[in-house]
Amino acid sequence: MQNSKTQQKLSQLKQKSIEAKLSGGEAKIKSQHERGKLTARERIDLLLDDGSFEEIDRFLVNQPNEFDDAKNKFLGEAVITGYGKINNKTVFLYAQDFTVLGGSLSEAVANKICKIMDLAMQNGAPVIGLIDSGGARIQEGVNSLAGYSSIFLKNTRASGVIPQISVILGPAAGGATYSPALTDFIFMVTNIGQMYITGPEVIKAVTGEQVTHEELGGAETHASKSGVAHFINNTEEECFSQIRQLIEFLPQNNMDESNPETENIDPPDRKCEVFSSIIPDDSYQPYDMLEIITEVVDNNDFMEVHQKYATNILVGFARMGGKSIGIVAQQPSRLAGVLDINASVKAARFVRFCDAFNIPIVTFIDVPGFMPGTLQEHNGIIRHGAKLIYAYAEATVPKISVITRKAFGGAYIVMSSKNLKGDINYSWPTGELAVMGAEGAVNIIHRKKIKSSQNDEKVKSELIHDYEEKFMNPYVAASTGIIDDVIDPIETRTKIINGLNMLANKRDTLPPKKHGTIPL
Ligand code: HXC
Repeated sequence: MQNSKTQQKLSQLKQKSIEAKLSGGEAKIKSQHERGKLTARERIDLLLDDGSFEEIDRFLVNQPNEFDDAKNKFLGEAVITGYGKINNKTVFLYAQDFTVLGGSLSEAVANKICKIMDLAMQNGAPVIGLIDSGGARIQEGVNSLAGYSSIFLKNTRASGVIPQISVILGPAAGGATYSPALTDFIFMVTNIGQMYITGPEVIKAVTGEQVTHEELGGAETHASKSGVAHFINNTEEECFSQIRQLIEFLPQNNMDESNPETENIDPPDRKCEVFSSIIPDDSYQPYDMLEIITEVVDNNDFMEVHQKYATNILVGFARMGGKSIGIVAQQPSRLAGVLDINASVKAARFVRFCDAFNIPIVTFIDVPGFMPGTLQEHNGIIRHGAKLIYAYAEATVPKISVITRKAFGGAYIVMSSKNLKGDINYSWPTGELAVMGAEGAVNIIHRKKIKSSQNDEKVKSELIHDYEEKFMNPYVAASTGIIDDVIDPIETRTKIINGLNMLANKRDTLPPKKHGTIPL
């Protein structure tokens, strides 16, 4: 039997726990729901495995400041922090609590977030930030700004060490956008999540332009136009279930050598019969690379990243032989799968993430070249295209590639080619490896011959045919070892899985350096 003093203390704890749970109070919770948003605690419950959340700092309060006001003392302040499990894997998380002063970032909030990030780093587990905040706590001035910079520092130090995920479930404005921007994946929920540096009011005052919050920085905008958001969902519930799916593919940290393996029910030697007829006879006719990816991976399960952005390239996670892999592939049904600025940057970022976290990269290639045009040149296709070369060349994880059709020019060698240290480079028999397409090539190397001939169209088409026969096949490259083998497409899955198994203990190192100077 407990003594009465302990009883008293227990009842005090109970009372304080109730108070902490109430966050900004019933009225604010109601108003949060009226805004179409869940509360921070409801979000945590939906995201984590049932009953796995352990809260930290629930009794922390803001330190006295010159705006000190008893009304504004909330247990736990404007963020809920702690750790828990997702599919039994440990994750650390913080959820900004909009019911407390609009989730604004006080010094205390920043300290709580930094503590969680330190724990995540020390213990090697992903950190997830649920963002719903009015930004820097105005009453706290520079102290709250300093709080942001402490978080930015932690985000940068954690980069490449633990996976960092940000989820935009309310406002994220001004400098507050930069913590999510420093993380690996940004999820947004339509209608409630918004990110922008300067709001519509400021834009109107400065430029006269009128734009709504949603058009300016809503989920759809960032998923398809800016590329800031990697995943968007219509509801918070869908968003949390997608985060849980993503965590399944990721290792816990950069030293976690156990590739997140799952029980594989899809036979590694499954033949992909549809591949024998998937490439159209006409080499200018598009086809859907997504069909190839979903057919080749385990259980047709491909989690596409950046689905709505730079759709001429596909990136995402899947499993092959039960092991987590990253896939990069041209999409010939969008802009013929050309490499442009956005596609280069999208793929480069993904390749670097996979490399940082020891996730092997499988690349499917059907690329007619880099996108021509002044718009691309003037916006820096040279600089941005170089990022993709850099990313592939620097990556030391296992790299397997399959050329399905076109592999032209500079765009081809960018894509995990042998001389960029691709480990296994395959081509289907339909592979067309050349400096450029037949017509362009013939127009350049046989210009004089075509001009001086009587029947220039006939001569030209013969020369094109000749070029296609001689050069536009995978055997020239296979004869020099640039391609390791020309494979029967229906065996693609088996070949890739065998390659991944062979490369499972791959060791490759970069020369000692502080860090490279990737052309940013
Ligand atoms: C203190 C804040 C706050 C803030 C909101 N609140 N933002 N308190 N500091 N930054 C409080 C409100 O006073 C209100 O309190 C409650 O939160 C809910 O806010 P509402 O305005 O009623 O909500 P809503 O209409 O949904 O609008 C949300 C909002 C708006 C769009 C976020 O509140 C807003 O524009 N806030 C200011 C945003 C801002 O300018 N932040 C500073 C940015 S500078 P009561 O008690 O009335 O309910 C910045 C720099 C970071 O963040 C730099 C890092 C380097």
